[in-house]
Amino acid sequence: MRAFLSRILDGVLRSQFVRSIYKTQWPVNRRMRMLTVLGSCLLHLHPTRIPRSAVRVCFTWCLGGLSFFLFVLLTITGILLMFYYRPTVAHAYADMKYLEFDVPFGILLRNLHRWGAHAMVITVMLHMFRVFLTGSYKPPRQFNWVVGVALLVLTLLLSFTGYLLPWDQLSMWAITVGTNMAKATPFLGAEGPFSLVDETSDARFLLLGGRFVGQAALLRFYVWHCIGLPFIAACIMAFHFWRVRKDGGISHPL
Ligand code: HEM
Repeated sequence: MRAFLSRILDGVLRSQFVRSIYKTQWPVNRRMRMLTVLGSCLLHLHPTRIPRSAVRVCFTWCLGGLSFFLFVLLTITGILLMFYYRPTVAHAYADMKYLEFDVPFGILLRNLHRWGAHAMVITVMLHMFRVFLTGSYKPPRQFNWVVGVALLVLTLLLSFTGYLLPWDQLSMWAITVGTNMAKATPFLGAEGPFSLVDETSDARFLLLGGRFVGQAALLRFYVWHCIGLPFIAACIMAFHFWRVRKDGGISHPL
């Protein structure tokens, strides 16, 4: 029976159909396995050889991977939330309540997104801390550290812009306080040192699209939160991963 099944499997793997998808033959030895990984669109994202010490869980704690996993989770749950949410002053709050109390599994969806966002901020910070503790920011990885800092800022901006969207008292006043700080920006804030601008053209006005947290601010934050920032973050993440590979793979003890 076993021989019969393996003959069938062999026939399928050697068929023209399978060979048209997989250019390399079925990997029977180490060299063939490496060629298969290199030839596959999905698998080639991973290196063919990694030092054993670099894949030890207690070296990276998989914190970068967890941050990426949470980003993917947030993207998927965020897209699902968009089916129920309208970014207008008249609808935003009611839509969140409808989602929470009337939509089946709506509260689960909302909380997956909310708690996922909190968790991502924590994992990104812990990942940065791990990179620091293992000295992985040193040459040749110093530029990837800078790219990482950009990712940290983007993660925080994603959290900040998402905070306004439920349009409740907490969001309103948190964003009012947050954007008021922009007023104190040097040169570009109306009340900042060496101010060059007035209240209708300063950094705060640019963030809110007006002088108060209102409809224009809600729409701006929505567009940045759902399209602008995730797109920029995804591009920079792809670059971050590519740099890990080009800098010689994940660092490991000498
Ligand atoms: C959205 C945020 C981020 C994601 C998704 C991410 C993802 C990753 C992944 C998957 C790795 C491979 C090793 C590992 O899993 O630890 C990595 C490595 C690295 N990351 Fe990040 N990262 C992020 C933010 C940051 C931040 C904030 C920093 C530092 C400021 C940073 C600096 C680095 C460096 C230097 C490496 C190479 C580490 C080594 O070779 O040991 N990353 N990152």
